[in-house]
Amino acid sequence: MELGIRGKRALVVGGSQGLGLAVCERLAAEGVNLLVFARDMARLEVCRANLCATHPVQVDVCSGDITQATDVERLVRYAQDLGGIQILVLNTPRPPSPMRDFLDEQDEARWDQAYQQQLHGALLVLRKVVPLMVSSGWGRVIAITSASIKQPMPRHAISGIFRAGVQVALKHLAMEVAQHGVTVNAVAPATVLTPTFSSFHNLEQRIAAVPLRRAGRPEELAAAVAFLASEHAGFITGENIQLDGGQTRSLL
Ligand SMILES: NC(=O)c1ccc[n+]([C@@H]2O[C@H](COP(=O)([O-])OP(=O)(O)OC[C@H]3O[C@@H](n4cnc5c(N)ncnc54)[C@H](OP(=O)(O)O)[C@@H]3O)[C@@H](O)[C@H]2O)c1
Repeated sequence: MELGIRGKRALVVGGSQGLGLAVCERLAAEGVNLLVFARDMARLEVCRANLCATHPVQVDVCSGDITQATDVERLVRYAQDLGGIQILVLNTPRPPSPMRDFLDEQDEARWDQAYQQQLHGALLVLRKVVPLMVSSGWGRVIAITSASIKQPMPRHAISGIFRAGVQVALKHLAMEVAQHGVTVNAVAPATVLTPTFSSFHNLEQRIAAVPLRRAGRPEELAAAVAFLASEHAGFITGENIQLDGGQTRSLL
């Protein structure tokens, strides 16, 4: 299916590995030019070289930290110099590890880290980047969140509390920018087998709990993101797609 986004430019935040990298690969395969943002420049360069070797698209990279306003402002200037972006894929860092029960989370530094990475950084990017799309009259925002925003998971409070805030922001944003041709949606994964996820000690137990009896593949998440970025998804906004093999038990 032709997605109708060939030649557009996507900013993929946290796109140098894992789910973000899978999204970069899928969008590049669809002919989308990329601006990839993450902290480690060496890894970004590897990412650029690999993507350029396999797809005839333009790949630019920008290193910085999502939690730092100056870095995000530099990223926006970079995007403007490239001629703007039409697609934003907002992937946030993993929460502090290991995950603990709520009452065991007594370390203020961990709460601050989770707030900075999951919520503050996400809000910074949304507030600074989305105006670029509003002014051009077309845009797609797709946030990668977590299935735990619909159904809290054991020991996920430090992540879920701030991800819920991101979900509220996405809904507000969807309503505000719809009139400018910009859609805002989320993809909410659980048990998708990235290299980081594969390193969890209780992996087999987690996979056994998935109704589909397997882990998800990063390419499956990337396919959902690509669809939401496409022309075909132009009437979908303010939505959330659970990508969890059936783990979320809620009706809606
Ligand atoms: N896999 C799943 O089943 C699952 C389930 C629920 C939620 N999630 C969420 O999905 C997201 C992606 O997961 P993943 O396994 O793909 O993560 P990952 O492999 O750790 O990749 C994270 C990406 O974000 C970048 N990054 C990290 N901290 C950053 C910062 N402060 N500023 C800018 N970029 C930063 C990383 O590059 P640098 O380190 O170079 O910055 C990397 O490109 C995470 O939030 C995770 O919690 C995943």
